[in-house]
Amino acid sequence: MTPRQIILVQESFEAIVPIADEAAKMFYTRLFELDPSLRPLFTSDIKEQGKKLMATIQILVLSLKNLDRVIPVVEDLGRRHVTYGVKDEDYDTVGEVLLWTLNKGLGESFTEEVEAAWAELYLVLSMTMKHAAVHV
Ligand code: HEM
Repeated sequence: MTPRQIILVQESFEAIVPIADEAAKMFYTRLFELDPSLRPLFTSDIKEQGKKLMATIQILVLSLKNLDRVIPVVEDLGRRHVTYGVKDEDYDTVGEVLLWTLNKGLGESFTEEVEAAWAELYLVLSMTMKHAAVHV
């Protein structure tokens, strides 16, 4: 990610933090609409899951300048996702829903440049998770 992309992601996420619960709710509603077969993979309380997801994204977003330091954490996350039954192709669906949610949450400030920055971050994270998943 370029330094500018890092700033764009960090600034735009700040606007999501106050509406994190709502954003998480929209995210899962949209995800299960797009692919209902993913619903059974989520066995714990979806509200709690939403909080964990947002907290993790927040840590990663705040760590972007030193992403190499958090890569091992992302790899562990990827390995755990295999045990949840997540398949490689599911990352495409989740990526699409993430961008959709950011668009809904940010409105006009979700410019093409902001979208490209988030897409780049998700690409790095999902590739790292999928790669680690091969070596469970
Ligand atoms: C960048 C991508 C992703 C991030 C940051 C992320 C984050 C998280 C976090 C923080 C948890 C809590 C449990 C843990 O830490 O192991 C979790 C659980 C889970 N995630 Fe993800 N995730 C991502 C991608 C995906 C994808 C692509 C799927 C596919 C459907 C998925 C499905 C699940 C499921 C099924 C659980 C377990 C829920 C439960 O225990 O009920 N995640 N995820």
